[in-house]
Formats: sequence, structure tokens, C-alpha cells
Amino acid sequence: MARMSTSATGPAARDDDAPRPAGLTESAFVRACRRRPVPHTPVWFMRQAGRSLPEYRQIRAGVPMLESCRRPDLVTEITLQPVRRHGVDAAIFFSDIVVPVAAAGVDLDIVPGTGPVVAEPVRELADVEKIRPITVEDVSYVDEAVRMLVAELGDTPLIGFAGAPFTLASYLVEGGPSRSHAKTKAMMYGAPELWHALCGRLVEITTAFLRVQIAAGVSAVQLFDSWAGALSEADYRRYVLPHSAAVLGSLADAGVPRIHFGVGTAELLGAMGEAGADVVGVDWRTPLDVATKRIGPERAVQGNLDPAVLFAPWPVIETEVRRVLAEGRAAPGHVFNLGHGVPPETDPEVLTRVVALVHEVSAESNG
Ligand code: CP3
Repeated sequence: MARMSTSATGPAARDDDAPRPAGLTESAFVRACRRRPVPHTPVWFMRQAGRSLPEYRQIRAGVPMLESCRRPDLVTEITLQPVRRHGVDAAIFFSDIVVPVAAAGVDLDIVPGTGPVVAEPVRELADVEKIRPITVEDVSYVDEAVRMLVAELGDTPLIGFAGAPFTLASYLVEGGPSRSHAKTKAMMYGAPELWHALCGRLVEITTAFLRVQIAAGVSAVQLFDSWAGALSEADYRRYVLPHSAAVLGSLADAGVPRIHFGVGTAELLGAMGEAGADVVGVDWRTPLDVATKRIGPERAVQGNLDPAVLFAPWPVIETEVRRVLAEGRAAPGHVFNLGHGVPPETDPEVLTRVVALVHEVSAESNG
């Protein structure tokens, strides 16, 4: 109950009464990231903008994924759709982790039902050198879309994001999605200098991409290391952590909370926390009270309803949401989310009900 101890002097909302310059009132989402008392537990969903929404399927009809990421009008509309529909506490910028890599000159496509596919996978140093550093001009459509969104969203915070070096490198080395990450690991073990050169270049690109979003007004950033769970802790520490830490560390002065997320990371939670984020994302396999012991009291947690539970009967969903909220109370701050993205087949009405339930249950216990 560490979070409640902050409110030992009074109700959790009391902190809001403190004088604060106009316009700087922090959202529940940013407060939870910063481990401050909250009026209710904030909730958003990874992949909340996407195929679960009929209005998304309609607006995307006939527009390839990468093209839609480069059109600020479409990005703005798609990002706003789940906010309007579900009343979530944060919007996540509609884009993809491979957008900055494409802007850096890598020939790739996002294939429906498969994911990113790279025409010429990285094999040698010359391939790494072809990946250019990026500037704001290379992703001006991102700068423009974030500014439009911040104006439209009002008090609702916008989360910017990027892929972490390991997950991006995996797509670049494998050439596409991979279960085993065998080629990626072969490069790590067999050509560590090449591996570190590739990750070094990705650190620059990811940092630049996040800085563009921060300068344009996002309220927080999330670093997606979705496939980090494929690694042992020793390999994670040796080959990956320094690069993710370089990205997160370089944003320490940026003034926005940093979230660090991966899947299958039960054994990596402590190390991922050490990489320097303010919030560590947890998948559904580790209860949040157990996760917070591994991560420590310095960081908030985000998660962790199993996305598959969204297909269960409502009473099961309700029980699971209440369990996640109860376990999350052991953390110094909790942002409710799924353990991974919204599956495309999800009934969006279930998501709307989950948002309402999270707000209702958490407002009762925090009030
Ligand atoms: O709502 C949001 O979360 C924001 C949008 C977002 C997308 N991709 C949109 C998208 C975010 C944050 C991402 C990040 C991303 N992209 C990750 C990290 C998060 C994760 O899921 O672990 C990864 C690994 C990718 C790579 C990628 N892009 C995959 C695996 C796929 C799915 C391929 C498919 O068709 O199933 C994509 C494509 C993609 N990115 C879609 C969306 C909405 C689907 C494309 C479509 O609707 O046609």
C-alpha cells in the first residue's frame, strides 16, 4: 500500500488543492507516472487505436499503414478515435516503431497480418552506415501531427513512443517478425562490434524521434522493447540495457515521464527498471505486487490485464480488473493497461466498460 501512504495526511485528492500555476494541473496519468496521489487510477490501452474499432477500419480502407502514419490529418483522427469512444486517460500517438527507421532510409514495408518487412536485412557494417541519423525535417509529419493533436486533446495527455534498440534491431537483422530472434542473437554473439554499432545508430534515431515528439508537446514517452523477453538477464544486461539506458538517460532532462515496456520480461523487470525509466510496463504473467518488488519503490508500474481476458464473460473480466487494481496498489504508482496490445478482434464495447470499471473501483478506494 505504498501509494496510499502518500495520502496518510488526508484523502489522495488533497494534493490537488496545493497552489499550482494555471494550466499546469497534472493529469491523473502523469501523476501516476510520477508516483503522486491520484483521484482515480488512469487507464489507456496499447494499440487502442487500431483494428478493434470500426471507425479505424473505415478510415484506413485502401490506405497503406506507412502512408497513414505520414498523413497528419489521418494520424490525428485515428489517435482521437479511442479517446472519444472509451474515455481513456491518455491518447497514444498513432504511428509505428519502424516509422523513424524508414525515415532514416531503410527500405521497408508494414505488411498487413505480418508486420514490418525489411527489403535488405542488416548483415555488415556498410548496412549500418547506410542508416542515416534523422532530423525533424525527416519526420516533419510527426511534428505536425503531434502539434495538431495536443491542440485537439485539451487536458488529455498524449503519449509519444519509439521502439527500443533491441526490438528495432531484431526487425532490421531478421528482415521481419521472428519467434526465435536467431539471426539477431547470432549477430550479438558472433559480431558484437557490429551489433553495438547497429544499436548505437538506433539509439541516435530513437532519441531524435522521441525528442521531436517531446518538442511538439507530448506529455510522456513510451519505449517499446516488445521482444526483450527473448533474452536471458545476462544477455539483456550485456547487449541491450546500455543502449536502452542511453535513450532513456538522454531524455532525463526532457521533463516528461518515460515508460519502458516489454513482453515476457518477468526475469528482466529489475534490469529494465535500472535502464532508467519512471514507469515499467509489466505483461500479464507477473502480478503487479510481485513486479513492484522486482522493480523497486522508485518506479511506477503499468499494466497488466491479459488481453485474452477481454474475450471472457463479463464477470470474469470484472474479477480480473479488480485483481489487477488491487495488486497495483502495492506499487508506488499504477497506470492501468493491458499486458500487451488490444487484439484486433476485441469488442470495443468491452474496452469502454473496462475503462468505466477501472475509474469506478479506483475512485472508491482512492477517494
Ligand atoms: O494505439 C497504439 O498503440 C498506437 C499505435 C502503434 C502501432 N504500432 C500501430 C500499428 C504502436 C504503439 C505500435 C508499435 C509497434 N509496432 C510495436 C511495439 C508494440 C507491440 O505491439 O509490441 C511493434 C512490435 C510494432 C511492429 C508492428 N507493426 C507489428 C507487429 C504490426 C502488426 C502487423 C499486423 O497486421 O498484425 C504492425 C502494424 C501496425 N502498427 C498496425 C497498427 C494499428 C496494424 C496495421 C493495420 O491496421 O493495418
